[in-house]
Amino acid sequence: MKEAIERILAELESLQARSRKEVEDARVRFLGKKGEITQLFEEFRGCAPDLKREFGQKLNDLKKAATAKIEELKDAAEAQQEASAPKQDLSMPGDAFELGSRHPVSIVRQEIVDIFRKFGYDVAEGPEIEDDWHVFEALNFPPNHPARDMQDTFFVSTGHKDPLLLRTHTSSVQVRMMESQPLPIRVICPGRVFRNEAISARAHCIFHQVEGLYIDKGVTFADLKQAILLFAREMFGPDTQIRMRPSYFPFTEPSSEVDVSCNICHGKGCNICKGTGWLEILGCGMVDPNVLRASGIDPDVYSGFAFGMGVERIAMLKWQVNDLRHYFENDMRFLKEFNTATEV
Ligand code: DAH
Repeated sequence: MKEAIERILAELESLQARSRKEVEDARVRFLGKKGEITQLFEEFRGCAPDLKREFGQKLNDLKKAATAKIEELKDAAEAQQEASAPKQDLSMPGDAFELGSRHPVSIVRQEIVDIFRKFGYDVAEGPEIEDDWHVFEALNFPPNHPARDMQDTFFVSTGHKDPLLLRTHTSSVQVRMMESQPLPIRVICPGRVFRNEAISARAHCIFHQVEGLYIDKGVTFADLKQAILLFAREMFGPDTQIRMRPSYFPFTEPSSEVDVSCNICHGKGCNICKGTGWLEILGCGMVDPNVLRASGIDPDVYSGFAFGMGVERIAMLKWQVNDLRHYFENDMRFLKEFNTATEV
């Protein structure tokens, strides 16, 4: 046993291994399950006690020396491999990563804003948490109008006697404009609105509107009709026709709802326009004299028109997506269909 230990020690001393593979071979040869040192330990087990005393420590030292040597050779082989590895090529192209893109509602909202900007409209935004005055009272809502009902409106509990609420339409911003801006006013007001509605394919509790307002001396219904027609043709194509139907809103008199000719079937009738050839896009009218008066504008000198449209509604018509919920669920498969961004 003594000779074996000395021989192995000498071999370890002069052991050389250049690659990881050679180091591993050496480890197996000395320390593996059937390795030379492991076998010496086997033999040692059967030795007489006095031999055990003599060789126990020596064997342990041998194992330690072998383990240390193998470690040392392994480190050296790794360092060697690293040094000879090709240098990193910093000119290699990076991994492409996906860019996000605009949400379809933002795309349409921007398109609407851009069209009216071209017509000379300013853009304004107002608060989403509003008071009763700007959402209802100044817009000529009678005191018991159902739109003030808890069923439509989300109220914000403030502990204050005058409740605040989440605006149910962006018409509140036209009041803020009339109260604060010098005349004439020509402005569009995009923004989020909130209604206490059950979520379905056609309704949601949060959606987006764009409000339009034009106040000047001598503004007529013909100006309103012209503005809407120009908008509809920019948005839905140059052959688009509009149709105005009498309607009612507390804040406009007269009031009208506007349909555009169906851009899918061009008036022949399809399932998008439900066979009518027309699609409703917005509400509008001449600003009611009471509304002008409430904001300190003299209705005997000034007149104006207002209109309001739902951004999701326009998006649904534009892309024929007929379930509103798609616009709020942020399913990547849906959003990617609108991805116009290019990869870098
Ligand atoms: N505020 C109305 C709504 O939320 C939309 C609207 C209709 C706005 C007619 C107007 C308008 O300015 O004249 O349904």
